[in-house]
Amino acid sequence: MFSNLTAPKQDPILSLSQAYRLDQRDNKVDLGIGVYKNSDGVTPVMQSVLTAQARVLEQQTTKAYVGMAGDEEFNAAALSLVLPDAAVASRASSIQTPGASGGLRMLAELIAFSNPGATVWLSNPSYVNHQPVMEAAGLKVKHYRYFDVATKQVDTSALLEDLAKVKAKDVVLLHGCCHNPTGADLTPEAWKSVTELAQRNGFLPFIDIAYQGFGDGLAQDAFGVQHMASNLPELLVTSSCSKNFGLYRERTGSAIIVADQATHATNARGKLLQMARTTYTMPPAHGASIVKTVLLDNELKAAWQQELEQMRLRLVNLRANLCSELVERTGSHDFDFIQQHKGMFSVLGFAPSQMLRLREEFGVYGVDDGRINIAGLREKDLAYVASSIAAVR
Ligand SMILES: Cc1ncc(COP(=O)(O)O)c(C=O)c1O
Repeated sequence: MFSNLTAPKQDPILSLSQAYRLDQRDNKVDLGIGVYKNSDGVTPVMQSVLTAQARVLEQQTTKAYVGMAGDEEFNAAALSLVLPDAAVASRASSIQTPGASGGLRMLAELIAFSNPGATVWLSNPSYVNHQPVMEAAGLKVKHYRYFDVATKQVDTSALLEDLAKVKAKDVVLLHGCCHNPTGADLTPEAWKSVTELAQRNGFLPFIDIAYQGFGDGLAQDAFGVQHMASNLPELLVTSSCSKNFGLYRERTGSAIIVADQATHATNARGKLLQMARTTYTMPPAHGASIVKTVLLDNELKAAWQQELEQMRLRLVNLRANLCSELVERTGSHDFDFIQQHKGMFSVLGFAPSQMLRLREEFGVYGVDDGRINIAGLREKDLAYVASSIAAVR
């Protein structure tokens, strides 16, 4: 049965991690894989998460199955983190998914079921998994212009020009905040303009929010999703607890449907549950129990928010310091965009050959598309990474 299968292409980011591990140089720096690391280069377990986990383990009396929607208390708490407005919540429904990845796939399947001819529009560029996941669900994919390579910011007028051509009932996938890979986010005004286009032309926005709390703050990062949910009849959202709770391997996320009326949201959720049943049946419980324990306890929630804010501020500082090191080394402000970008990533605007030089000559590992993970920088690496970038530019 398997004799005619050929070896699949290696995932570019995972093979980068492997090459990094094999690199013997002491001064190597891993700016590849998208995880937060502290100043020791470690992806920490948050203290609030450890406290919640201890409580979960202490109070756990069974390992019996949870329902197909996962933990309903988690569902309500995770929904209100993204969409706290009661009027919106009253016409929304959600299920717990194995990470935002699971949410992306379940919602893609829901789109394919509800509107088999739909095209999903992705930003150019977008998260490396968006296109394969949408296509795996049988959806067509097209791209809208997003990143201006010259300014390293969002090209809002090109984006609006492209989205003005999107047909009614097609789907536009947007990053809620901290765009992966570019780090360039929509302004509140741009969110409003895209919302007006959706109102006028009838396309369905689908927001992937995987880094809430890493950009401008928990509430600020949800501006786009909240504005759209309040002003549009329908919206799809997938949210992740991988980054903001540091629960990567626990596979904890949500798929959220906002509909014009509560019964439509409930019916769509019923379809999602059927689809979950025929894929993974039910999501893993551990991460969701931790998130629920944090969010439902005021003291733990405040502690978690403080830890998340410290991580965010560290990223802001790393960006500022990398910029000033680059000003010093290049005598120019060519890299000031790094300070304006949000979240974990920035695209340097380097060609794959320059990224290869960074890797081979300097042991600085970024992705071939020019993405570097700012959260992979240790403070002690800043000067070296800045010199390497300056040498390669
Ligand atoms: C934009 C975006 N969406 C979704 C995901 C997947 O997140 P999860 O770990 O929750 O599946 C990522 C992870 O890197 C991401 O960057």
